[in-house]
Amino acid sequence: MTTTKPTAADAVETPSATHDQLVQAHPWLVEQPRAQRDWVALEKQFYQSTFKRSLVMERGQGVRVYDADGREYLDLVAGIATNVLGHAHPSVVRAIQQQATQLIHVSNLYINERQVELAEALYDLSGGMRAFFSNSGAEANEGAIKLARKFGRLNRDGAYEIISMDRSFHGRTLATTSATGQQKYQDTWLPVADGFKQVPFNDLDAVKAATTAKTAGILIEAVQGEGGIYPASADYMQGLRAWCDEQKLILICDEVQAGMGRTGKFFSWEHMGARPDIVTMAKGLAGGVPIGAMLAAPRADIFEPGDHGTTFGGNPIACAAGLATLRVIVGEGLLDHVTTLGYSLGARIDALAQKHDIITGTRGLGLMRAFDLREAKAQDIMDRALERGLLITNAGPSTIRFVPPLIIQRADLDEAIEKLDAALAAL
Ligand SMILES: Cc1ncc(COP(=O)(O)O)c(C=O)c1O
Repeated sequence: MTTTKPTAADAVETPSATHDQLVQAHPWLVEQPRAQRDWVALEKQFYQSTFKRSLVMERGQGVRVYDADGREYLDLVAGIATNVLGHAHPSVVRAIQQQATQLIHVSNLYINERQVELAEALYDLSGGMRAFFSNSGAEANEGAIKLARKFGRLNRDGAYEIISMDRSFHGRTLATTSATGQQKYQDTWLPVADGFKQVPFNDLDAVKAATTAKTAGILIEAVQGEGGIYPASADYMQGLRAWCDEQKLILICDEVQAGMGRTGKFFSWEHMGARPDIVTMAKGLAGGVPIGAMLAAPRADIFEPGDHGTTFGGNPIACAAGLATLRVIVGEGLLDHVTTLGYSLGARIDALAQKHDIITGTRGLGLMRAFDLREAKAQDIMDRALERGLLITNAGPSTIRFVPPLIIQRADLDEAIEKLDAALAAL
């Protein structure tokens, strides 16, 4: 008996039956009518329970975001300090669209023009640091830790330990969780990776006392973000710089949350007059497109081919979006805008504190601010703000945090504070 093998032409002649069968077996192959979709239930069914959430966001424009029912929110969460230019900024949209038609991805085996352009801009803004791009803040910090370990191996007799700060946050990978100075992020994954220890923030003597022959570097957020918006003092940062010089240590600044102009300067460490050897960035660097960056000053710029790598890091779309974002932040005077609006926001928060007893303290720099609560009521306040069309976030159960888009206007701040005032009054 002879059998005839099906050919490619046969498949083309009978596509509909095959396709119908396929769709029956895999309904997601075709778009489902939106009105029939229960996103909350579907999320529970298909997504791991890493986030507790129930609001479905559909689109955004400027400082506004809209849920699946068309309800509008003033967005002061901004992707937790990520949508620095708000939503759908035309410069970022245009850059992504243009790049997508030219080259979406190319291996890091080849030079890509957008990557070099973004590195050039960051070299300028950092005063001469060369870049390595990744996809997230945690990855940027992983690269920084590896670089500090290499420096320790070459210059400090194999030293590998990183000293970081209590209340810090550096990411969710195992090494960055180990560097994070908050037990709640570590407890479930013990033992944490070897080679990390934490000391109190803003305490130079504690760093000195913790430094041993094993220490390779110091990792710090010049303004702690997740910990509750705590700026380091200038004396302390300058003391860390001098200690690193004296002891041949690497000073790493994690600018993932505080960088990109959020504090009114491009890097938050510029406020303190102390230059790090390594800087890490992510969040707002590409206006919402995933990216991370690890910048190294000449002293620490010691990676060689093969030491480190990534498939997606420095992807042309991410870098095109990054360059467009930087051109707006630096080229359109957004840093001054952040400083001015930051004072306004600070004054408005202080006025709220005068009025509501539950607020016990306020602090921050630029558009990175917070207030503390007498009781653990941050979630209640966020819920009540949400009912009034305002998205704000917290830093722990007793601190409300403000990290709005850098393009926010005075009228938006007025509206936000009015809504927050009402939310606080409704407690
Ligand atoms: C200071 C700091 N470092 C690192 C990270 C981790 O960044 P990612 O979530 O992009 O890994 C964060 C995230 O909140 C952060 O605030």
